[in-house]
Amino acid sequence: MSVSYHKWLDQKKLELQTLDCYSAGITPEGLAQQLGVDISKIVKLNFNENLFVDRSRQIPLLKQIADEIDLRLYPENEVPNLIKKLAEYLQVPQNYITIGNAGDELLDRIIRLFIKKDDTAVSFTPSFVIPQLCVKRQGGKYVTVPLKSDFQLDVLSMLETFSEKTRLLYLCSPNNPTSNQMKPADIETLAKAFPGIIILDEAYSEFADYSFVPRIHEFPNMIILRTFSKAFGLAMLRLGYAIANPELTEILTKKSPLPYPVSGFTIRMGVKMLENIDIMQTAVTALKSEREKLIKTLNQIEGIQAFDSQADFVLMNTKLHVDIVYEKLLKCGVMLKKWGKLLQYENCFRVTVGLPEFNAKLVESLKQINEE
Ligand SMILES: Cc1ncc(COP(=O)(O)O)c(C=O)c1O
Repeated sequence: MSVSYHKWLDQKKLELQTLDCYSAGITPEGLAQQLGVDISKIVKLNFNENLFVDRSRQIPLLKQIADEIDLRLYPENEVPNLIKKLAEYLQVPQNYITIGNAGDELLDRIIRLFIKKDDTAVSFTPSFVIPQLCVKRQGGKYVTVPLKSDFQLDVLSMLETFSEKTRLLYLCSPNNPTSNQMKPADIETLAKAFPGIIILDEAYSEFADYSFVPRIHEFPNMIILRTFSKAFGLAMLRLGYAIANPELTEILTKKSPLPYPVSGFTIRMGVKMLENIDIMQTAVTALKSEREKLIKTLNQIEGIQAFDSQADFVLMNTKLHVDIVYEKLLKCGVMLKKWGKLLQYENCFRVTVGLPEFNAKLVESLKQINEE
């Protein structure tokens, strides 16, 4: 009896060890140590974090919450306050909103609820990797269609993948890593034809031109995902939300076995950021202005092509090999997200729009690499 039990467990452990997981790569601390410099010298432009949000405005809000809450209690009455504020911000009814432990946890929650072994999910490539990892963990299949050369959706090819067996469609817009928004008419065509559940990931929508949130009523099988990590600069706290019709919202909130997935402290900080919405708005305006400058400056460097962006990062292709540029930038203390080949572009990087002094360091380092 005990022998066969161990056999199963050993096999299970082996199987679990083969699961693909997200790997963040080198940390700023690790790089600073490697280079023998202080961490303040590292220019971190690899995670799409938003340093334009004014910390001196965030810190007093955190201190207020520390005074207000009693950490010994469960967060029973916190979620409704945040939902009320979000409903005002988004101009949707309160029963359209689900709160989650950032976008990643909501993606995982939706995929756990809707995908089981041998189910198929559809998406496009290149795009955000977490949904694919979650679907595979469930034992599902993840079918992707390449974007067209202009980074827009290949609608006809995607429609061909739809069948009675396709359960989930994941669309990211603005898309990570190409940074563009998909054409609304294309999203609409796919959403109207898809037989299963649709996730429209709008993690970067505050930096973009449009959102599907005002049109959520038109799409009964769509869940729009949003996060406080980007525009609101709360990546450390892990807070996100989903917008969907009341039936889906009830499933997402009530059919998850965990009663309090998000900490009360985090929820209160979301409320405070919405009460002081100018912090986010000022940051987004400054970031967008810096984004345009960065794209222009990068495009003036020999051998660099930077694409237009609707997000808080920029996609860049280099003439020199991606590995060479990546290693040389690391030696300069500059961290980018290396993508490599992306559609017809061989040497791609995703570059977070940083504060002006960080972007200047990136530009200076790229020019130096060209001269070596
Ligand atoms: C497209 C996209 N969706 C969702 C997320 C998840 O963000 P978070 O879990 O911080 O809300 C990210 C993070 O980079 C992202 O790029």
